[in-house]
Amino acid sequence: MALLGVNIDHVATLRQARRGMQPDPVLAAQTCLGAGADSIVAHLREDRRHIQDGDVVLLKKTLHAKFNLEMSIDREIVGIACKVKPDQSTLVPEHRQELTTEGGLDVTGNRSNVAAAVGRLHDAGIEVSLFIDPDVKQIIAAKKTGVTMVELHTGRYADAKTPFVRKRALRQLREAVKAGVDNGIHVFAGHGLDYDTILDVARIKEIEEFNIGYAIICRSIMVGLDRAVREMKALIV
Ligand code: PXP
Repeated sequence: MALLGVNIDHVATLRQARRGMQPDPVLAAQTCLGAGADSIVAHLREDRRHIQDGDVVLLKKTLHAKFNLEMSIDREIVGIACKVKPDQSTLVPEHRQELTTEGGLDVTGNRSNVAAAVGRLHDAGIEVSLFIDPDVKQIIAAKKTGVTMVELHTGRYADAKTPFVRKRALRQLREAVKAGVDNGIHVFAGHGLDYDTILDVARIKEIEEFNIGYAIICRSIMVGLDRAVREMKALIV
């Protein structure tokens, strides 16, 4: 059975709308874990639009489960991670104007910079995953940076507007998962998945973990966070 990591950035987005204390992403993380989430994901963005430095420190101190810190390969952010020491960091591309992480990290075109960030994080004792598009070339390049885990970007699949495009994206995901496993890489997946699109990808048994945020936090407004997490967990069989 695959594991569920819940991304709590969107709780912090709501808090930052008023620059106040509520809702608290650290408390939300505890609720997610109580409801069966296996790990917590948070993205410390360079523009600090949602998760703040203090959240990261508190998450590290208080979580009794894997803490997966997402970040760009920016030197300063990697330095913060090396001090905080999350259990895992996931390196993602980051652009100031984007609404969310658009596309995976281009490891083929930027291998030495990615490998340098991976090396610093590994030296600090932190496991590293690279968030990449479901593309065999990116998987091969990822392996050469020294990582043993990747997260495949499911956006093309999840955002598909027609069954044809979705089917093709699912096939690309399957091929990328196989390439990862054949290369001895642990494969995770996430981005844009909801209570419907999770169903087909959850059938790809080699995917060890799904990281999901937006859909769960949106549903939590209607049914509460505990139930929103339990419902998603039940779909990841
Ligand atoms: N995994 C990674 C690496 C991400 O960057 C994100 C979005 O921050 C997610 C998973 C979760 O995506 P969503 O919020 O669309 O479920």
